[in-house]
Amino acid sequence: MGEVWPVTTCRNDAGELTVGGVSLVSLANEFGTPLYIYDEETLRTSMRAWKHALTSRLPGSRVVYAGKAFLCTAMAQIIAEEGLGLDCVSDGELFVGLNGGVASAMLSLHGNNKGRNEIEMALEANIGKIIVDNFDEIEMLAELTADRDEPITVLIRLNPGVDVHTHKKISTGMADSKFGLPIADGQAEEAVIQLQQLPGVHLAGYHAHVGSQLFDTDAHTAAIADMIAFAADMRAKHSVELEIFSPGGGFGISYLDGDAPLTPDYWVEILATAIESACTAHELPLPMVIIEPGRAIAGPAGLTVYTVGTRKELEGIRTYVSVDGGMADNIRPSLYDARYTAVIANREPQEDVIENVTIAGKYCESGDLLIEDISLPPAHEGDLLAVPATGAYCLAMGSNYNMSLKPAVVLVNQSAARLIRRRESFADLIRLDLP
Ligand code: LLP
Repeated sequence: MGEVWPVTTCRNDAGELTVGGVSLVSLANEFGTPLYIYDEETLRTSMRAWKHALTSRLPGSRVVYAGKAFLCTAMAQIIAEEGLGLDCVSDGELFVGLNGGVASAMLSLHGNNKGRNEIEMALEANIGKIIVDNFDEIEMLAELTADRDEPITVLIRLNPGVDVHTHKKISTGMADSKFGLPIADGQAEEAVIQLQQLPGVHLAGYHAHVGSQLFDTDAHTAAIADMIAFAADMRAKHSVELEIFSPGGGFGISYLDGDAPLTPDYWVEILATAIESACTAHELPLPMVIIEPGRAIAGPAGLTVYTVGTRKELEGIRTYVSVDGGMADNIRPSLYDARYTAVIANREPQEDVIENVTIAGKYCESGDLLIEDISLPPAHEGDLLAVPATGAYCLAMGSNYNMSLKPAVVLVNQSAARLIRRRESFADLIRLDLP
């Protein structure tokens, strides 16, 4: 199978698609559909690839997985086992990370509007880093850290104001962004001055995340140059050493055959070279580097299996093939015009007949189209449709729209399947209701 599928994907003698040595037909029978499946080998292989690429090039550096891409207890356990950190953006993510056994020193907390409760939780758990985004947060930190014995380590989230080549809704490093403090207008420097005055806080460096699903390194390298120039300036003016530096995540993956994402080694080489050359130019010692891949780790390891239901042929317009999931488990096509591919998973499809169809979701919304215009062998009621590269930002952004039940998640490895999150039940739909 191509790059969009988990590394273990193949077809068995019966023509059924298998992942991790397990037939998707047997998984669908056992756990129902829609079903999210993660291939443990792909997951761990990509964690190791990022970690090896980074730490062999920059010793002492760290890969911190962005939990927003997909998080559950088993995922947190795997992250901890593989020695990765966990980047959180909420108290909920902190909770799941801690509960899954991620060491608090390996946790970091982001967010443009951290609540007091979230900062309190981070301080109480004594997490590794808080990435400070704004002045209100600095005020809150001043109050909440005043009587700490050990200062909490913080980085400042910078807004480098760079061009980013990706969908507008997943660009974050441009001047008009809700994230971070701009370097250009002096706000970032003001944050340095304020944080330096707080005895309960140790300002250790800077962070930026420029955007997501990137296939080129331009925005990162531009941001790195500006951020390190700023770090040198802050060292000269305010004696703040650059100990830790993070250019965030954003590394693109294949969604369609023919997509050509950059490899971990390539990304790391470009980032490391940009960091080293900027540090040399500004006579700064090399900092500890942290990268935060989310999609690149979770995305390729995951796939979704749906059951085909109805067909509707609109003469001269299009044919809709509907499946039993859609925007409640994968909002990305509706939100970002994201494109996916799919194959029939329960039988060897007869490739001599191909039709152009649109895969529709089942939700009461015209825009609930999972894949517009895909060429597929005819799919009929009861067929299983497998959609690859759904491991990141699909279930994580899932909802209960139309009172749908969130799908189960299964981890497959070496011919065994383990349920790591059960399918929601009707009881779950009303468990918070107060009649
Ligand atoms: N670090 C920070 C501070 C971030 O804000 C993000 C993602 C990441 C790391 C991880 O980025 P990644 O390596 O996954 O690109 N829902 C969107 C993506 C939103 C990304 C938000 N921040 C999507 O489905 O495409």
